[in-house]
Amino acid sequence: MQSLHPQYTIGNQLIEALRVHRPQISRAQARSRAVESLERVGIAEPEKRINSYPYEFSGGMRQRVVIAMGLMCDPKVLLADEPTTALDVTVLGMALILVSHDLAVVAGSVDEVVVMRHGQAVERGDVRRVLSHPEHPRVEVSRAQRRAQDRADRARKAREEKGEATVATEARAGSEEGFDAFTPLSRSRDEEPLLRVRDVSQSFKVRGGLWGRSTDFWAVKGVSFDLYKGETLGVVGESGSGKSTLSRMIMRLLEPTEGTVEFEGQDITHLSDRRMRPLRNEVQMVFQNPYSSLNPRLTIGQSIGTALKVQGERDGRRNRVRVQELLERVGLEPDHYNRFPHAFSGGQRQRIAIARALILKPKLIICDEPVSALDVSTQDQVLRLLSELQDDFGLTYIFVAHDLAVVRQVSDRVAVMRKGEVVEMGDSDGIYENPRSDYTRRLLTAAPVLDPDEARRLRAERARAGSEG
Ligand SMILES: Nc1ncnc2c1ncn2[C@@H]1O[C@H](COP(=O)(O)OP(=O)(O)OP(=O)(O)O)[C@@H](O)[C@H]1O
Ligand SMILES: [Mg+2]
Repeated sequence: MQSLHPQYTIGNQLIEALRVHRPQISRAQARSRAVESLERVGIAEPEKRINSYPYEFSGGMRQRVVIAMGLMCDPKVLLADEPTTALDVTVLGMALILVSHDLAVVAGSVDEVVVMRHGQAVERGDVRRVLSHPEHPRVEVSRAQRRAQDRADRARKAREEKGEATVATEARAGSEEGFDAFTPLSRSRDEEPLLRVRDVSQSFKVRGGLWGRSTDFWAVKGVSFDLYKGETLGVVGESGSGKSTLSRMIMRLLEPTEGTVEFEGQDITHLSDRRMRPLRNEVQMVFQNPYSSLNPRLTIGQSIGTALKVQGERDGRRNRVRVQELLERVGLEPDHYNRFPHAFSGGQRQRIAIARALILKPKLIICDEPVSALDVSTQDQVLRLLSELQDDFGLTYIFVAHDLAVVRQVSDRVAVMRKGEVVEMGDSDGIYENPRSDYTRRLLTAAPVLDPDEARRLRAERARAGSEG
């Protein structure tokens, strides 16, 4: 995703990619090829969106633009290194080499698999055979099941600890009149929520067609919920559904166009930068990409410690001790303090990003796809770390992800977003066991499928459903 230049429109970059290799092609021809490529990778209204800048696209859409760029020159072979979306070669009409740690992406996209380990190809064969009868034990198929078990265990333990208290509270909340859908059942209504979001909407100006007229585009429409201390709200939805935009409004990196955001009872919707500043420590964010979220020129000690300095802690030694304690707490070594980011793996970098978010003792952490760039076992470790930290520091999380297995493992409640709206919200197990909307059901079937035939069938079904809107 880093291969897109932030200052040029998507269209210009696609056109350039082609003209560098085929200078004889006219701009007009290149432009229509660009529209076609965007269409092939599933960007809606490509004639309009071609004038957008990368920051106007969601993470998933940017990934698809990069694939479109790969298609511009009609290559015979496409090499895709860890794409996060499955690629349909039959549509693309070319040979594909797909490098991935994600078996679900592999299952739905390829004919043949080579399994690598320690630099060697240890197994090779038809995707159906390799995934169903692997010679090398390496596939952990039951991740979702194990996670569900984990959650159930934790919930049971919590219930045992709280004992009768919870039951009593639930009975009271449920019996009250005018039951409020935004409040989780297990809370009494006198408790103040940490975060209260009411009818927030965000509109962006989108440059229109030929005449460059711009129209309003509502990326988030009328979203409401309450979030209580110690709780985790999962936010799921397909690419472009508004998850990151909602997160940015809560962080007040964006000012909501409509609606209100209250943090600890204070309305922060339109606070000035100066008045927001003290609150900036209370809400932190962990981003998806561990490779771009750390400054390569700072040691990780500096990256994590800067915030303390900005807060006015002048004693360098004390700063260092605090950072080193935190490094240990997130599973790194105190003497990693002087290392630069390039010397860490993706999983370690995510631990660094978490430490950086924690250093100012925030109350709320928004995690925007924090583990989607990691392989399965590293994902597990990072998710476990997040739950432990939640218990230790009394943290509240908003956890954004497209992987439902991940969201289910960590969330108490889940909000399902579609085209900017919350179409369903509820207790996380409930949503998985009895999804009320068709859309949620479709998202559930989009969860990792490791049977190649099933994966293809589902993808075709989704494509049909998608084209019918
Ligand atoms: N600054 C902006 N200007 C114009 N449009 C924007 C801007 N930011 C986001 N959008 C649009 O808003 C919609 C929602 O984007 P958002 O980033 O919130 O999606 P998302 O749910 O996080 O998707 P993903 O899973 O792909 O990250 C997209 O259609 C995107 O193109
Ligand atoms: Mg996003």
